[in-house]
Amino acid sequence: MSSFFEDDGNWFDEPFGSEEPEAAPSSSLAAHLEGVTVVVVDADGVAQAEIAQQLGGQVATFNSIHELSTRLTGAPVVAVLGPSCSDDASLASAAQLLQSHHELGTILIAQELSTNLLQQALRSGVKDVLAAPIDNGALVEAVDRVASTLAPAPTAGGMVAGDEMFDEFGTGETGQVVTVFSTKGGAGKSMLASNLGVVLAQRSERPVCLIDADLQFGDIAVMLKLAPAHTLVDAVGNIDRLDEPMLRSLLTTHEPSGLLVMPAPLEPAFADQIGATEMIQIVETLRRFCSHVIIDTPAYFNDVVLGMIELSDEVLLIAGMDIPNIKNVKIGLQTLRLLNTPMEKIRLVLNRANSKVKLDVSEVERTLQVTADSLLPSDVVVPQSINKGIPVVHASPRSGVARALEELASEFISVDSNRKRK
Ligand SMILES: Nc1ncnc2c1ncn2[C@@H]1O[C@H](COP(=O)(O)OP(=O)(O)OP(=O)(O)O)[C@@H](O)[C@H]1O
Ligand SMILES: [Mg+2]
Repeated sequence: MSSFFEDDGNWFDEPFGSEEPEAAPSSSLAAHLEGVTVVVVDADGVAQAEIAQQLGGQVATFNSIHELSTRLTGAPVVAVLGPSCSDDASLASAAQLLQSHHELGTILIAQELSTNLLQQALRSGVKDVLAAPIDNGALVEAVDRVASTLAPAPTAGGMVAGDEMFDEFGTGETGQVVTVFSTKGGAGKSMLASNLGVVLAQRSERPVCLIDADLQFGDIAVMLKLAPAHTLVDAVGNIDRLDEPMLRSLLTTHEPSGLLVMPAPLEPAFADQIGATEMIQIVETLRRFCSHVIIDTPAYFNDVVLGMIELSDEVLLIAGMDIPNIKNVKIGLQTLRLLNTPMEKIRLVLNRANSKVKLDVSEVERTLQVTADSLLPSDVVVPQSINKGIPVVHASPRSGVARALEELASEFISVDSNRKRK
């Protein structure tokens, strides 16, 4: 078998460095990965050697992602990035390389695994992150998993065979993540999240997904009259092999709009199985093929909500027009400030803003020290539409509240990308 790299290096002529084509390499990798080359990248020679050892010894090693990039030929490669590759610059180079090399899959070994690093690595396109020290079994399993997702070797014409298998919408752009949050129950989060999702799904040419992160009492599926075959529990149960095709197969489509929905568990008891790390991984995978990922949340802070807020490009903070509501939202805002959440990504939405409740909008804005981005009027068509399982933008499209929701959605989608999908 010929080398998978340019023919100016002699590290190995076989995947995993087997000298004898017929002989089974000592690593159990070869049994799983016919035709895939495994390499190690780390600036530190000792770390390189340790990882290589775990992979069965004779794998090619590189000091940097740049060095690896000069050796790729288009054949499938799994690169194990050692702990020295966890810095911003290395992850940026990995992201750049991965964008143009679909035949390359990467796994990062992190010295200290934080939510931030996990998020950054997955955003860069790294397929898996393992925390050091790792046992051989876990690394081999991860390499195996990543190898099975790689594009086949190029054909003679230079095209990657099976290119059509890649996401039909894959534009390389990462989707926008929008979390809808409030520290007050019943503020209108699910109503806003579902209607925003529906409008964006109709206007975007790429898929739009709504995730119900109200893990105990999520009611998005009911609001959109869906009978989901799968929920977040299935996504988390398959988290180790959760790639785009698998994730797509777990989503339920809201047929009237095309919105993809990842519902909350059907039973509150299952909520415990879902943690922030898994949710971040799910959202990062979704944003690779969706233009927007909308997240509905419960009315309190937990690990998942904090993870989602940190990950989001925009947070819609929704407040009702009464004093307890405003008080809770003020506390919520203070908490977000304490957590160093950039205030630029918070947008205030005042719900039931036309109510004759003797609170005027400017008073609320002054109290919260934030200007309201959007005002949604109170209208009986909202509960009526919820009871029918039809989003108000469909049930009463000419109502003031539907128009306000459409207008709010316009802020998330450029005019250029507006295109009705069937
Ligand atoms: N603008 C509105 N006009 C009239 N009723 C509204 C409006 N917004 C929301 N409601 C009603 O308020 C109730 C709560 O809305 P929703 O379920 O969206 O809130 P939530 O913040 O998701 O609640 P929870 O914290 O329980 O998840 C619903 O019955 C809905 O019909
Ligand atoms: Mg809700």
